[in-house]
Amino acid sequence: MQAILDDIYTTMMSRTDRGQVANYIPQLACVNPDQFAITVALPDGQVFSAGCAETLFSIQSISKVFTLTIALGKLGDAVWSRVGREPSGDPFNSIVQLEHENGKPRNPFINAGAIAVVDAIMMGHQPRETLGEILQFVRFLANDESIGIDEKVAQSELTTGDRNAALAHFMAAYGRMKHPVDQVLGTYFHQCAISMSCQQLAKAGMFLVSDGVNKHTGVRVVSAQRARRINSLMLMCGHYDGSGEFAFRVGLPGKSGVGGGILAVAPGKASIAVWSPGLDRIGNSKLGTEALEMLVQRTGWSIFGH
Ligand code: DON
Repeated sequence: MQAILDDIYTTMMSRTDRGQVANYIPQLACVNPDQFAITVALPDGQVFSAGCAETLFSIQSISKVFTLTIALGKLGDAVWSRVGREPSGDPFNSIVQLEHENGKPRNPFINAGAIAVVDAIMMGHQPRETLGEILQFVRFLANDESIGIDEKVAQSELTTGDRNAALAHFMAAYGRMKHPVDQVLGTYFHQCAISMSCQQLAKAGMFLVSDGVNKHTGVRVVSAQRARRINSLMLMCGHYDGSGEFAFRVGLPGKSGVGGGILAVAPGKASIAVWSPGLDRIGNSKLGTEALEMLVQRTGWSIFGH
């Protein structure tokens, strides 16, 4: 495995077309696009990495996997009255479907869906308490108390988040928000601003590899059925309107973020985190996707076969 990751690292470092860093969040536009990291965590406890796998980056939309997991824990199937579970085929920040579908987001991973999910888990609490809960959950998943929030990234998004504010107010107009919009948005921007390294992220994804049990800690996080369902949503919706392309090229449940990270799950086999800040035109990590494509070619881990 180490030899495979070293090969992937060398190949990715030689690439000249590295995509574009997200520029609609000013703080993310400052990140050096030359960085690349990958970590593979196996159920037997082994962890392999190449590149700057301890460097912290903004997990952005990858946080939506964790908030969905919390929401399912708190509300169970009632989550599906707030968000759907179909691919959107539209960009992550699109407002178009919301009007046609009465303010109910297609799935929990597009921005509107994630805003609805965080509104659902607030349950009358203050943003600070909900954020504490989200952070605590991510620390528990990764078994790492050092994980925190990059306040600069959160503020950067707060001051430029008109698009998300529009989505949230639009849903509120349909009576779909249970808390004040500014509180929900503040919580959402902070959840997206959680900073993690590839090593931490791969460990946090372990519970999705072995039927809901994190084999590194021996703790059951969710039922086998719930883990399977979260994986299916990641496969179908985790890369927005690029989910089909990602399934075609990589063939694993995966969730991307505009910070350039991707968490991918090879059920029964591995939790994989990759990071490279440059994005493709849809907003998914360009080299991250290429690296995962190379990894599945070498390991045969695609869920669709060799
Ligand atoms: O709300 C936003 O636009 C960002 N905080 C998160 C978007 C994102 O990560 C989309 N991912 N590829």
